[in-house]
Amino acid sequence: MTWFKKSSKAEATPRADDEIVRAYENNENITREECRILYTLVDDPWDLGSSLHYDSYARLIALANKYVDWHEIDWVVDYGSGIGTFTKALKDAHPHIKSLGIDFDTARVAADRRFGADLFDHYYEMDGSTTEYDLLRHRFPDLGIQRLCTCFINSTYYVFKEQRRRSRIDHFARLCRRFEQLARTPETRYMLVSASHTDRAAVDAIDRLGPQLVHLSRELRVASRIEQFNAELHTRIWRRRSSKR
Ligand SMILES: C[S@@+](CC[C@H](N)C(=O)[O-])C[C@H]1O[C@@H](n2cnc3c(N)ncnc32)[C@H](O)[C@@H]1O
Repeated sequence: MTWFKKSSKAEATPRADDEIVRAYENNENITREECRILYTLVDDPWDLGSSLHYDSYARLIALANKYVDWHEIDWVVDYGSGIGTFTKALKDAHPHIKSLGIDFDTARVAADRRFGADLFDHYYEMDGSTTEYDLLRHRFPDLGIQRLCTCFINSTYYVFKEQRRRSRIDHFARLCRRFEQLARTPETRYMLVSASHTDRAAVDAIDRLGPQLVHLSRELRVASRIEQFNAELHTRIWRRRSSKR
C-alpha cells in the first residue's frame, strides 16, 4: 500500500520480459518496475556482484574512512542495496558494522544467492505495490542504532522519480530524516555515490538537512559498460556533528 500521493503521469504499457532484457543490454532506460523484474531475468544485473565491483567498493570504503570514521559507525542504511556488494565489502573491512538493506524483493533474492541470507541485519523489501513512499511511514523495530551512515550507492535514479524537482527534493529530505530518526545520536554521516549531472535531487535534499560536505571526489570507477557513467560518477560524504536534530 502506498501512503503518499504520486503524480498522475500515465503508466506505460508493460513490456515483455525479452524486451526488458533487450533494453537493459542496449543500455536504454528501463522503468522502476522493469528494474525490479530484471533481477529475475538476468543473473547479475550491471555485474553488481562481480569482483571488479567489489574491489571498487572496497577501495571506496578505505578512502572514505578518513571522512566517515567507520569505527565510530555501528549501522549503515544501504539504500538500493542491489546484490549487496557494498554491504559485503564494508562488513569484510569493518565486521562490527550492521547493515539495513533496502531494495526490491527480487534484489534481495539475488543478494541472498550471491552473499548468503545473513548479509543484511535488517531488510526493507519493496515490491510492485510497496515503494519508497511507504518507507516514509514505515515503523522499523528498534534496531539499537547508535551512529548511522546512510549510504546511497548508485541507487537514487528511480527514487521518487515521478515527482517534480522541488517535490522530489522534499520527499528525499523526508526520507533522509526518517533514517536519522532511527539512530540514537545525531552524528549522522551520509555517503552518496551518483552520476550527479543526471541526479541532483538527492544532493540538494541532503544539503538542505544541513550536514557539512566533507568529501567530494570522482575517483570511484565501477564496472559500468557506459563510459560516460564513470565519467559522471561522484562520491560525496557529509557529516553532522552538532547536537541539533
Ligand atoms: C545500479 S543498482 C546499485 C546497487 C548497489 N547499490 C550497488 O552499488 O551495488 C541500483 C539499485 O537501486 C535499486 N532501486 C531502484 N529503485 C529503487 C527505489 N525506488 N528505492 C530503492 N532502491 C531502488 C535497484 O533495484 C538496484 O538494486
